Amino acid sequence: MTLFVQPPQPLALYGPDFAADPHGHYRRLREHGPLAPVRIAPDVEAMLVTDYQAAVDLLRDTHTFSKDPRAWQATVPPDSPVLPVLGHRPTALFSDGDEHTRYRDAINDSLALIEPHILRAEVARVAQQLIGEFATTGTGDLIAQYARRLPLHVFITWFGVAPDDGERIVDGIGGMMNSAQGAAAAYADLVDVVTRLVADRRAWPRRDLTSYFLAHPARLDNDETVRQITLVMSAGHDPTTNLIGNATLHMLTDERYAGSLHGGAMTAHEAINEVLWQDPPLANLAAHYPRHDTEFHGVRLHAGQLVLVSFGAANTQSGPATSDAGARSGASAHLAWSAGPHRCPAKQPALLIAMTAIEQLTSQLCDAELAVPVSELLWRPGPFHRALVHLPVRFTPLDTTVTADPDEHSATASGSTSTVSIGS
Ligand code: HEM
Repeated sequence: MTLFVQPPQPLALYGPDFAADPHGHYRRLREHGPLAPVRIAPDVEAMLVTDYQAAVDLLRDTHTFSKDPRAWQATVPPDSPVLPVLGHRPTALFSDGDEHTRYRDAINDSLALIEPHILRAEVARVAQQLIGEFATTGTGDLIAQYARRLPLHVFITWFGVAPDDGERIVDGIGGMMNSAQGAAAAYADLVDVVTRLVADRRAWPRRDLTSYFLAHPARLDNDETVRQITLVMSAGHDPTTNLIGNATLHMLTDERYAGSLHGGAMTAHEAINEVLWQDPPLANLAAHYPRHDTEFHGVRLHAGQLVLVSFGAANTQSGPATSDAGARSGASAHLAWSAGPHRCPAKQPALLIAMTAIEQLTSQLCDAELAVPVSELLWRPGPFHRALVHLPVRFTPLDTTVTADPDEHSATASGSTSTVSIGS
């Protein structure tokens, strides 16, 4: 008699149940081995890697796995809400080999212009300004009033975006990452803003990263430039917001931090590092597609099939099932930045922004505490991110507000000379 092993039913990796308990979902998925089937939208299935060693192997194996989604994409409904994140564009994220190197060089060389000490000073200045806007009230939502706005300011400054377009950029990025209805329109709006920006800088270059992308030896055409900038914005803004939010929540709820924000730089550093292990802002991504039918860690995969890596699951795997526990003992061995050729190129600026943002919170709102029970906090739906909807806090009102230099702010926000966080 032949025994057929029934493949497990795909587990839904989106919606309120997943958002409320991602680690419970990861535990269930691990029971099926290093990879398990998931649904990331009503019509879209994928294999999810939950095993740490399998994740590292996949991320480094460019012979077996491609980043080009086009064959898979042809099998997905064209209006699928996951396509704004996973659908092909001519960018570093969706290319292999020489094409990837060309795009990646333009991104790396542009990000290398960012001077850390200037970025730190600028982030601290904007943080003080943002905190000053609600410090006298004794309450605030640290996502809407702080963590979402701080990285936005950085991106506006880097790329020279007109201030009126700032909200459209944040809404566009947020909408595509939510991967629900409206995701395609949100992405289209983001592209529209950046297309106008690139056309403007092609005609009238300025001292900003948009102009630098256009002048880069990779000789990107307008559409390629739009797509790289959109990638940097979308890959950068939401995760940075979520790292600030998740690490701040960690400090507010973990008993070692005594439920408030007081503490020094080391405390912020520890909170960020622990969150990168336990609740990485990009929870499930690194979309890969087998170049041919293959067996991977004992699982049959078909050519062109969508395979995702769960950074959240791989990082938190423990016990004897861990293939290589030793590799996971080092403080920097988590996969929150991914690994291999597509690892995050912006780890240092992202860390610096998040660290400075939290240091400013801890020094200014030192007795801040959660204003609602932790069980009432809401998390954004969507398979790819770990992202708070809100982070309501209360604290002793400050009786002095921090005044920002209005001239400096308008010069920066207008994008006329964006030198504040980019070295000359
Ligand atoms: C806390 C903040 C951040 C986290 C946790 C993070 C994490 C990641 C991860 C996991 C990937 C791999 C994604 C994949 O392969 O599908 C990635 C790629 C990328 N990230 Fe980040 N990132 C962060 C911030 C940023 C920032 C601030 C920028 C830009 C300024 C940025 C730009 C990029 C780009 C362009 C890629 C694609 C690289 C490639 O495919 O070669 N990230 N990031």
